[in-house]
Amino acid sequence: MAIKQDPEKELDHRLALALEKYKGNPELLITALQEAQDIFGYLPRKVMIHVANALTVPLAEVYSVVSFYSLFSTVPTGRHRIEVCLGTACYVRGAEKLLRELQARCGTGPGKSSPDELFSIATTRCVGACSAAPVIKTGDELHGEMNSERLAQLLEELQKR
Ligand code: FES
Repeated sequence: MAIKQDPEKELDHRLALALEKYKGNPELLITALQEAQDIFGYLPRKVMIHVANALTVPLAEVYSVVSFYSLFSTVPTGRHRIEVCLGTACYVRGAEKLLRELQARCGTGPGKSSPDELFSIATTRCVGACSAAPVIKTGDELHGEMNSERLAQLLEELQKR
């Protein structure tokens, strides 16, 4: 007979194992937070408390790092995180309009997930590809010279993954 494990407990267990290697090393805070986010998909308060305790870092410092870096999220994220670059070059070339269109197509805004939990939208500073502005980032991929048509294609492609 198969024994079902509580998914939440399993995540807690994985986090506890992962944090073993960071114990007492406050300088590894960002790496530990990344690993914790990989496990949970985002960083709820209870996870930040575990990280703070394991690394012996004040919780306020954990909060400040999490809110500073756009790669961290404190709310559940969609399967695909889509970041719109709002750096100067992208902004000048229509990134804001692109962001509005993305929000309308996904039915959500920055920092939130789409109702189907497929997409999360975020904004970011320059990602170093200004010559291809406006740029959208998904995971490690950069998508340059974005426009309405390319955005529609990208969303369609992501839906299939
Ligand atoms: S401003 Fe967007 S890539 Fe540089």
